[in-house]
Amino acid sequence: MNVVVTGASGYVGEAVLSYLTKAGHQVTGIARHQPKGFPPGVRWALGDARDMDLNEVFGGADAVVHLIGIIKEIPQRGITFHALHVGITERVLLSMQTSGVSRLVHMSALGTRNGASSQYHRTKWQAEQLIKAHPSIRATIVRPSLIFGGTPPFFQMLQNLSKLPRIPVPGDGMTQFQPVARDDMASLIAQALTDEASVGLTLELGGPERFTLNQLFDAVAEKSGRHRSPKIHLPLALVGAVAGLNAVLPMPITPDQLAMLTEPNVTEDTRWHQWVARPRRFSSWNLK
Ligand SMILES: NC(=O)c1ccc[n+]([C@@H]2O[C@H](COP(=O)([O-])OP(=O)(O)OC[C@H]3O[C@@H](n4cnc5c(N)ncnc54)[C@H](OP(=O)(O)O)[C@@H]3O)[C@@H](O)[C@H]2O)c1
Repeated sequence: MNVVVTGASGYVGEAVLSYLTKAGHQVTGIARHQPKGFPPGVRWALGDARDMDLNEVFGGADAVVHLIGIIKEIPQRGITFHALHVGITERVLLSMQTSGVSRLVHMSALGTRNGASSQYHRTKWQAEQLIKAHPSIRATIVRPSLIFGGTPPFFQMLQNLSKLPRIPVPGDGMTQFQPVARDDMASLIAQALTDEASVGLTLELGGPERFTLNQLFDAVAEKSGRHRSPKIHLPLALVGAVAGLNAVLPMPITPDQLAMLTEPNVTEDTRWHQWVARPRRFSSWNLK
């Protein structure tokens, strides 16, 4: 198949390109920058998906894997959750329609729902609704929890914080997460793309183990071969006030990220195990 992957140069994109090329697909990656050291044999279409000519890239494609997403807005550069999650998805859907491409695997996120507490999840929800409203699009939507494997930005951030003499934890640190392996997710995407049984499904992906934020800090310290620093639990009102200043000054955490760190990110959904029978365990992963 000829597959176009948006967000191909990112953390998830790297693994998805690898699984798609190994499966024998011709892959075109969309990103603003061409990364070094990525799987060879990928054609790159470089540009900003907010305004580049997607029709040109989608012509002749059989399917699209749509990965573009952000975790932090930069409003002064027009990089907002709405522009990236909703606006670009709208452009992708229109260009797919124009180019006669109907098959889509779309990357959403666990916690996506109507009226979610974060703008990240609300705009992911809006993107999902746009996809479902397009009669010609045959989509599979995947909603992973935190992703581990390789060098994941989120766990690197925990690793850096865990080097401090005292680890600052927002609130009681008891929020649960269910980390899922990047390779498992990429494998699922590559298989689902060619399996009609996955069309119309919204799959929630969580790994076989659940961890609180406190336990994730401990696990990351252990994986890095360091002793556990004591944690300092910061009142949510205080962290919220600091995060609120992000509108005027760069802060270590945004209100949106705080909202996501304080609501459970777990799922009972195991339907995806029909493609990935034995999901990898976070506890067996070696953080570099
Ligand atoms: N990582 C996780 O734990 C996690 C968990 C749940 C869901 N997700 C979702 O998975 C998807 C991929 O996440 P990721 O961790 O791989 O993110 P990432 O490493 O930040 O990658 C984002 C990708 O989007 C591209 N991109 C961003 N803005 C663009 C624009 N305006 N035009 C064209 N390309 C643009 C980036 O390429 P350039 O910078 O080169 O343009 C990059 O390829 C996102 O939708 C995210 O919400 C991730």
